[in-house]
Amino acid sequence: TQIRHIVQNMPKAELHIHIEGSLEPELIFALAQRNGVQLAYPSVEALRAAYAFKDLQSFLDIYYAGASVLLKEQDFYDMTAAYLARAKADHVRHAEIFFDPQTHTSRGVPMGDVINGIHRACADSDVSATLILCFLRHLSEDDALATLEAALPYRDKFIGVGLDSSEVGHPPEKFTRVFARARELGLHLVAHAGEEGPPAYIWSALDVLHVERIDHGVRCLEDAELTRRLAAEKMALTVCPLSNIKLRVFDDMGQHNLLSLLDAGIVVTINSDDPAYFGGYLNENYLATFDSLPLGLQHAHELAKNSFAASFLPAEQKQKFL
Ligand code: ADE
Ligand code: ZN
Repeated sequence: TQIRHIVQNMPKAELHIHIEGSLEPELIFALAQRNGVQLAYPSVEALRAAYAFKDLQSFLDIYYAGASVLLKEQDFYDMTAAYLARAKADHVRHAEIFFDPQTHTSRGVPMGDVINGIHRACADSDVSATLILCFLRHLSEDDALATLEAALPYRDKFIGVGLDSSEVGHPPEKFTRVFARARELGLHLVAHAGEEGPPAYIWSALDVLHVERIDHGVRCLEDAELTRRLAAEKMALTVCPLSNIKLRVFDDMGQHNLLSLLDAGIVVTINSDDPAYFGGYLNENYLATFDSLPLGLQHAHELAKNSFAASFLPAEQKQKFL
């Protein structure tokens, strides 16, 4: 239909994509072979068949297992180049890409190989792409602080820091000092909050960590005062519709609250989160949402505009897209 065509072809930005979540099973197997890594699954088909998740943690367990094949700078390059090619096909003009260095440095991979490999693929792409270093919230704040210090020789290769992994039991305030340090360094700040965790985690991401965007944030609607605040402050949410269905945040796409968020006046964006695991890249997220919710052309334009407005592009570059 007309609207599906417009949604697919319109220029857009992607603001919530974990690069390790773009590793397709085929590439996992190719890298395992190249690096002599033994996988717990006998075949691509067996691995893909294991992609049935009951919640965030059941996904994270398999996501970290998949990332174990990444050892060399070239592996990080190849993964990122593959994502950017898919993004380009979906008319993504700008991507702000998360990476999880602790997943790799804990296996002995040098920080420089992680950052240089991902960054080199970004530099070689004609999609504009910047990097956001994420701390794993199931690990300690001291580990996050050491990770930030280890990344400082590569300070010019990432624009911000984020917070991801197991949410419940690991509130934003656990990372107060490392976010304060990142803020001093002039880095942009984002955090996953209100995906599985309560609205209180969105409040503390805002008031304790001083984040500039909330990743997911869909549970904000349980708190009317928080909802009003997010709208009033134009605090963008990076919503990931297919992720929310696969991780059982909502029962099905018809139950997703994306339109309610828009109707509440919130700056909503659509993103893919971990496209290799959740059944699609950015256009598949847009299409699944538009197929299931009563969204029109105005919404399509609003969502694309929001994606650039909420980006960390410099004002003059942002203007070209708005
Ligand atoms: N890491 C990768 N994807 C994630 C998600 N959806 N939530 C938290 N951590 C993640
Ligand atoms: Zn995420």
